[in-house]
Amino acid sequence: MSRGTGGMDQVVALERAALDALAATSDEAALEGWFRAYLGRKDGTLTGLLRQMGKLPPEERPSFGAAVNATKERVTAAYEARKAALGEVALTERLAAEAIDVTLPGRSGEFGTLHPTTLMTRELSQIFGLMGYQTIEGPEVEQTRYNFDYLNIPKNHPARDRWDTFWVNSGTATDEDQIVLRTHTSPMQARTMLKQDPPVRVIVPGRCYRYEAIDASHEAIFFQLEGLAVDKGITMADLKSTLTSMARQLFGSATKVRFRCDFFPFVEPGVDFSATCAVCGGRGCRVCKQTGWLELGGAGMVHPNVLRNVGYDPDKYSGFAFGLGIERIVMIKYGIDDIRNFYANDLRFLEQFAGTRI
Ligand code: DAH
Repeated sequence: MSRGTGGMDQVVALERAALDALAATSDEAALEGWFRAYLGRKDGTLTGLLRQMGKLPPEERPSFGAAVNATKERVTAAYEARKAALGEVALTERLAAEAIDVTLPGRSGEFGTLHPTTLMTRELSQIFGLMGYQTIEGPEVEQTRYNFDYLNIPKNHPARDRWDTFWVNSGTATDEDQIVLRTHTSPMQARTMLKQDPPVRVIVPGRCYRYEAIDASHEAIFFQLEGLAVDKGITMADLKSTLTSMARQLFGSATKVRFRCDFFPFVEPGVDFSATCAVCGGRGCRVCKQTGWLELGGAGMVHPNVLRNVGYDPDKYSGFAFGLGIERIVMIKYGIDDIRNFYANDLRFLEQFAGTRI
């Protein structure tokens, strides 16, 4: 066996070994290792074969070189094919790992619910809307003139003590220009009448503020609903029928309404009004403290001084006004015993109103 033949055998054996090792590679890292071992410029075994050529007798060199090159070409082609195959496997694996199962049911979002105060405001707005009342809103930061003066509550009058007030500035402003967080929605009576001539029929829902000692039935921030009707020939009978109709729509047609004398500086005569207890129907229970009645708010015939203050002629026009606490109506309707629930942001409380649609 000549050295040349031995060289050719070596080429054949090396090709077989290279192809076997190539078939055994299972990922890109192994493939790279294989490439360095067989085809690497520096240490690749196949590359090394060409370097041995110098040791061969000159007549054997061409055929040896051609054989090595042919082998190199075949092995390189096999390498390219293997590389493509492994790449495809890797891609398939990656796609499988990243796959999103679009058939999974989606996650539904969390929906908020309307606050019970909002729901009751809407219900009241609907009730009064059907009776011809427009719903309007007014400023929560108010001037003293609207919160007190126009309403027949002059400075230093003891009636101001009835409303424990948050003063916003007490600087150089005149008495009537002092700024307060409104203590009731009644200032909108004056603002409305100053802007328009009779007839007036409005309700005013809105947030009010009082410097209160907070307990189960008092909050420093709460909502009121004001009502005002002014026209020719309005009497106390209109006041009574309007509020009775409201109470029956809120609490049921068997509801009775009671009016008793009370004092508010902006009405004359003034009353407070109560409805038969929605829980016991008037027989007496824990909620109505065994009286059978639940107080809803204050009302009365608009005081002639208030009409005069806004430029209405009290000999020509008369009207009635009322004010009620919106949270209080919700508490009565749904049997809630603590007003602080309205501002505690406790979802267990708030979500109970999720199904109420108005
Ligand atoms: N503004 C009164 C209060 O907050 C409630 C009230 C009473 C309003 C009688 C009225 C009314 O319009 O006529 O205590």
